[in-house]
Amino acid sequence: MKKLYGVIGDPIEHSMSPIMHNDAFKQLNLDAYYHPFHVNREDIGSAVKGMKALGIRGFNVTIPHKSSIIPFLDGIDPLAQAIGAVNTVVLEEGEYIGYNTDGLGFLKGLEEECPFSIEKKKVMMIGAGGAARAIFYTLASSGIEKIDIVNRTVQKGEQIINECPYPTNSKVLNLSEGSLKMNDYDIIIQTTSIGMYPYINESPISLEFLSKQVFISDIIYNPFNTRLLIEASSKSCSGQNGLAMFVNQGALAFKKWTGVLPDTDRMKNIVKSQLG
Ligand code: ATR
Repeated sequence: MKKLYGVIGDPIEHSMSPIMHNDAFKQLNLDAYYHPFHVNREDIGSAVKGMKALGIRGFNVTIPHKSSIIPFLDGIDPLAQAIGAVNTVVLEEGEYIGYNTDGLGFLKGLEEECPFSIEKKKVMMIGAGGAARAIFYTLASSGIEKIDIVNRTVQKGEQIINECPYPTNSKVLNLSEGSLKMNDYDIIIQTTSIGMYPYINESPISLEFLSKQVFISDIIYNPFNTRLLIEASSKSCSGQNGLAMFVNQGALAFKKWTGVLPDTDRMKNIVKSQLG
């Protein structure tokens, strides 16, 4: 019988995940199907029960359910627990176990596209929301100690650092301090929604004082080139958008469900062609 997978969220109609996963199933000759499910905020508990009753083998979780789903799962992986958010659920011996592949997807995407080894490099991360927390805890759990957070609200950055279960050597800067100190870093990660609709002509931080070549990783992939990436390239800095992170978080979920890692270049091309 066909194995069923999916994604739950609200909104969900523009999700690129179904086309990406269904193509990978086809490519690997797996008799499986991935469907987008629109689930309202208040229905998360009954949705999880219903998915289990229907025998769904695994699913992704997106906005607004990444944190609120946790009490309805049978178990949670320690990294997802620390992050406080689940983006992937796997049916394991009849139990739904929650994982978070966002941070690891980011790390793989960075390793794929950054022109130098990220080992021992100094990282500045802009933002202190949910995506920032997933990335920070995953980098910290991988032994990257020097990740400073730059955020409009300094307190939110401090909270991420203080609650991190892995040792770090990090500090928080406000946006103007971050802008002045940019030359102290090798990699700058942008995790806020500034650059995405309706903020497409905005950048979360000024690059005015940037005078060295840093690698800029913006986790936004729609639009492909954010204002920050355009400004960085005008200063001869190389960078990446969020496509590699998106594809790799999906590929890692796919591997948890099927045991097979799909072709991530093919996934990138599919998402690119959908975005036009
Ligand atoms: P997500 O969960 O998707 O990562 P979020 O929790 O809404 O998003 O976090 C958004 C991030 O964007 C935060 O770091 C936020 O800064 P604050 O912590 O100060 O709120 C940042 N952000 C949002 N609007 C911003 C703006 N106009 N300028 C700078 N940073 C902004």
